[in-house]
Amino acid sequence: MSEKLIIFDTTLRDGEQSPGASMTKDEKVRIAKALERMRVDIIEAGFPIASEGDFESVRAVAKAVMQSRICALARALDKDIDRAGEALKEANASRIHTFIATSPIHMKMKLRMEPDQVVENAVKAVKRALKYTDDVEFSPEDAGRSDPDFLCRILEAVIDAGARTLNIPDTVGYNVPQQFGQLITNLRERIPNSDKAIFSVHCHNDLGMAVANSLSAVLSGARQVECTINGLGERAGNAALEEVVMAVRTRQDLFTCDTNIDATQIVTASRLVSGITGFAVQPNKAIVGVNAFAHESGIHQDGVLKNRETYEIMRAEDVGWHTNRMVLGKHSGRNAFRSRLDELGISFESETELNAIFQRFKELADKKHEVFDEDIQALVNETVISENEHVKLISLKVTSETGEMPVAMMTLSVDNEEKQVEMSGSGPVDAAFRAIEEIVQSHTELQLYSVNNITSGTDSQGEVNVRLERGGRIVSGQGADTDIVIASAKAYVHALNKMILPHERAHPQV
Ligand code: KIV
Ligand code: ZN
Repeated sequence: MSEKLIIFDTTLRDGEQSPGASMTKDEKVRIAKALERMRVDIIEAGFPIASEGDFESVRAVAKAVMQSRICALARALDKDIDRAGEALKEANASRIHTFIATSPIHMKMKLRMEPDQVVENAVKAVKRALKYTDDVEFSPEDAGRSDPDFLCRILEAVIDAGARTLNIPDTVGYNVPQQFGQLITNLRERIPNSDKAIFSVHCHNDLGMAVANSLSAVLSGARQVECTINGLGERAGNAALEEVVMAVRTRQDLFTCDTNIDATQIVTASRLVSGITGFAVQPNKAIVGVNAFAHESGIHQDGVLKNRETYEIMRAEDVGWHTNRMVLGKHSGRNAFRSRLDELGISFESETELNAIFQRFKELADKKHEVFDEDIQALVNETVISENEHVKLISLKVTSETGEMPVAMMTLSVDNEEKQVEMSGSGPVDAAFRAIEEIVQSHTELQLYSVNNITSGTDSQGEVNVRLERGGRIVSGQGADTDIVIASAKAYVHALNKMILPHERAHPQV
C-alpha cells in the first residue's frame, strides 16, 4: 500500500498574498468548503495577526470546516502565536505554522539577528505554539538559500521542542529539482531526530519549477506538499495543487505515495478561486485550462477517438471536467437549482441568501435559454455579501450609436442613498465607468479590464474582470451579465466595495 502524501493548501494565505487576490471572509469560507470537499488535509486559512479581518476570516474558516485541519500562520513572535491560537480556538482540528528566516541575507538584512538568536526564537515559538495545539509546523524561511549545516541545527532544535512538521520553503523560487530533492535527502539523513517529523515543502514558481521541485522533494521522502489552487501565490505563485496531485496519481509507477484528494472536485475549485480572485486561468494551463483536454489536430483527434490513451494520460472527467453536466432553464425549480448548487459545492448559510441567488438565476434564465454550471458559478461569485455592499448598481442605461459619443445614465445606491448621473465616454464601458466615478469619487486607477464569454454562443454571459489600484493597494472585482456593459459596471462596483473595506494589514514576510 502506498504511503500518504499530505496536501496542505495555502490558497487562502500565500495565494491571497498575490497583489489583487484579496478575498473577503465569506469568499474564504466558500473556498475553504470547496477544499474540504476535495479532501484537502490541511487548509492554511490565513495570518491572524495581519488585521482584524484576517483574524475573523481564520476564525470563520475554523468554525465552518470540520473535515480538514485548519492552520494559521505566525511569525516566531509571542503576539503572532497568541493571535493564531485565539483564531483557531473553535477549530475541530488545528495547527499553528510558525516560521523564521534562516538564510544569511534574511537573517542579516531583514531580521538583523545572529544565527544563535534565530535558533532561540524558533525554539521559543514552537514551545509557545504547543500551548494552543499539539500540531505545530515550523518553517525556516528561505531554506532554499540557507546554509544546510545551519538548517540541520535549527531543525533538530525545533523537533526537540515539539514541532512535528518541518516545512522547507524555497521562498524565492531559486532552487532546481535535482538540488532541492538532494537537500531533502540530506536533511533527512543528517538530522539525528528527523524520524520524529514529517518533511514538507513549499516551493515558489519564480523560475517555473515550483511543481517540479515539490515532486523531486516527494521522491526524496517529503510527505507534505504546500500548494495552492491554480498555483496562485506571491509573485509567480506557489506549486499548483492540481498539478502536484495529478502528477503523483498519474505516475504511481514512480511515486510510493498518494494523496487523499478527490480529484473530481479540482475543476470546480479552480473555477471558484479564479472567479473570486479574478485571476484567470490560462487556456493551456495543465489540468484546469480549458484546452488541457482539447485536441486540435486531426491526427490527435483520430487517435483519441480510436483509443483515448493514444494521446491522453488522464481522463478529463477524473479531474471534474463535464461530469454530470446538467443544464438548467427557466422552468427549473428551486429544488433542481439547490441540488445543482450542492453538486457544485456551493452552500449558503441562510435561506435569504439562497433566495437571492435563486431570484437572480430566474432573471438570467429569462434572458438566456440554457443556464450552465459556469453561469451559476459566476452568479454566485459576483454576489457581494450585503454587509460589504456600500455601493449598489441600481440601473444603467447606455445609448450607443454610430458617429455619436456613447452616454451612460447611471443610478447607484451609496450607503442606501440613491444617486444618478449621466456621463459620456469614448465607448459605452468608458461612459459607464466615468459615471460610477462621478458618483463615488474613489480616485482609483483602472489597472486591468478584461471580458470573457462564460460559455459559448452569442447568448453567453460576458464575465468581466476589473482590477483597481489606489495608494499601492490593488483589488479586483467580477461581474457577469448577458449585456457586457452591465457586466462591466457590476465588476467595477464589486471592486469598489472591496476597496472600501478596511485593509490595514501586516504582511507576514516583510
Ligand atoms: O514562501 C515562504 O517562505 C512562506 C513561508 C511563510 C512558509 O510562505
Ligand atoms: Zn510562500
